[in-house]
Amino acid sequence: MIPPVHVVTGAFSFTGAYVARALLERGERVRTLSRRPDAGHSLAGQVEFARLQFGDEEALTHDLSGAATLFNTYWVRFPRGAATWGTVLENTRTLLRAARAAKVGRVVQFSVSNASEDSPYGYFRAKALAERELRESGLAHAIVRPTLIFGHGELLLNNIAWMLRRAPLFLVPTGGRYATQPVSAEDVAELAVELAGRGDEAGADAAGPAVYSFAELVAAVKSAIGARTWLVRSPAVAVLAAARAASVPLGDVLIGRDELAALRDDLLVSRAPRRSTKRLEHWLEEEASTLGRSFVSERGRNWD
Ligand SMILES: NC(=O)c1ccc[n+]([C@@H]2O[C@H](COP(=O)([O-])OP(=O)(O)OC[C@H]3O[C@@H](n4cnc5c(N)ncnc54)[C@H](OP(=O)(O)O)[C@@H]3O)[C@@H](O)[C@H]2O)c1
Repeated sequence: MIPPVHVVTGAFSFTGAYVARALLERGERVRTLSRRPDAGHSLAGQVEFARLQFGDEEALTHDLSGAATLFNTYWVRFPRGAATWGTVLENTRTLLRAARAAKVGRVVQFSVSNASEDSPYGYFRAKALAERELRESGLAHAIVRPTLIFGHGELLLNNIAWMLRRAPLFLVPTGGRYATQPVSAEDVAELAVELAGRGDEAGADAAGPAVYSFAELVAAVKSAIGARTWLVRSPAVAVLAAARAASVPLGDVLIGRDELAALRDDLLVSRAPRRSTKRLEHWLEEEASTLGRSFVSERGRNWD
């Protein structure tokens, strides 16, 4: 008998790869829904591939058919061009409808810490609306709400390290702590797999064991890679202007206005009891020799 499959969106991308690996380690069968195959990825020979195509609901339903679990990481970091929060929600609705038609056993949805329909920030508002779509879908489900995820393949800490390796100074915003509670991608994946195995409708924050102000976060990266960059306190408007100026030659978005404001409001800190154990410093130590050696472009990876 063919064992049931678990479908993971983005197994060749960042967090989805950790979820796929956690499932494979448990001897489970995994299929990814991704925009493109990636023959060079370490998981390429181990997971089945199907296309993440919101324009063809029938194909999505076929590819989800009989799946024990759908781990849905699909999202965008910011709206761009025709991709608005409205279209991201529409795509999420399509995926959930297909999951229902395909009789998927359970959906584990990736949201974000402090998702709220009242949030002034589109990302957090749309995440809360996606949670509501799932709750109202009739599907058995669980929701994982990560803070800031670190691990192989993430962009933010890598690109901070890239700048620290090159720039003489690095601007750190004033006017708040801009706190985060980074969580390891392994811990996020473990939590997602654990929630997939539960029978109830569960939701849990995925947050690390320590809270860092943005200045502490940058200092931790700086210390791990041995950079000598001068960290300069500066008003948020100046930080944004500098980030925008640096984004132009890189052809990327280093940090957006909403992203900085959400950090200022400490939205990447969990209000729930801490569960995760892996500290950021340990990971930084492990990655120190490679972190920030090359710039990883969000636009290059996800938009172009
Ligand atoms: N990274 C964090 O620190 C963090 C923090 C809180 C919450 N989250 C949430 O956790 C989940 C996983 O995050 P992640 O950073 O690991 O995401 P990711 O791997 O970069 O992408 C997750 C999925 O979204 C798809 N995707 C990404 N950008 C897209 C675009 N512009 N257009 C169409 N599809 C796109 C990817 O498609 P492909 O498979 O084709 O690449 C992948 O299936 C997301 O739901 C995210 O919102 C992440």
